[in-house]
Amino acid sequence: MTEPDRVGLLEGLRSTPSRRYLSDTPIPDDVLWELLDAAVRGPSGGNRQQWGWVVVTDAGAKERIAVHYREGWEAAYGVRRDELLDPARDGAAEGLSPSSFRATEHLAGHLAQAPVLVVPVLRNAAGSTDKRLGASIYGAVQNLLLAARAYGIGGVLTSFHLTGEAEIDELLGLPADATTMGLVPLGYPARGRWSLPHRRPVAEVVHWGRWGEVRHGSSGR
Ligand SMILES: Cc1cc2nc3c(=O)[nH]c(=O)nc-3n(C[C@H](O)[C@H](O)[C@H](O)COP(=O)(O)O)c2cc1C
Repeated sequence: MTEPDRVGLLEGLRSTPSRRYLSDTPIPDDVLWELLDAAVRGPSGGNRQQWGWVVVTDAGAKERIAVHYREGWEAAYGVRRDELLDPARDGAAEGLSPSSFRATEHLAGHLAQAPVLVVPVLRNAAGSTDKRLGASIYGAVQNLLLAARAYGIGGVLTSFHLTGEAEIDELLGLPADATTMGLVPLGYPARGRWSLPHRRPVAEVVHWGRWGEVRHGSSGR
């Protein structure tokens, strides 16, 4: 098995942005297994682990999922391409920079090329209104992405597949009470690099003791 990088925990979590330019190089099964083993170490309410992780590598199945994903992308962002890529627009301020737009568009056009699509699924979740629902799986999803980082594998938590949710549930043979909580394409990055994700500074989003109370960390961040 390929050995993981000896990247430190904090360095790893500070240098794991979305990776959307993925090569079609296969991920060895034993590596994939390690990633999934790291994922299932994540938290869930009462440690109930009502999850299932569907690993999709079949080209036909990936393509069928990709059709819905592209539709979702098109409806949400593709239709706004000119507006969102307008040089006069401050994309970074709104969150979706032109480079993020292009990367997201690229993934939407090449989803099926990713060697693996991991679909995190929760049981007893279909139609749920429980505000805590996602908390019982997204920590584990982040574990998956961070473990992937250790093996030089990139990915991103996505949701555009939801346009075809019913068809995808059927394609994957999900139980009636289960719901997909995301779709994580994984692959060895074809371009880009591991780098600090752009975020609002800590001091801007932290409220010390009470909402609105500002405090600066010792590093000035
Ligand atoms: C709820 C949710 C849904 C998302 N859906 C998609 C998606 O469908 N496609 C995609 O490419 N990225 C998707 N993302 C990824 C976000 O765009 C990404 O986390 C954000 O832009 C930060 O990226 P960065 O870590 O590279 O800075 C989603 C993220 C979340 C949390």
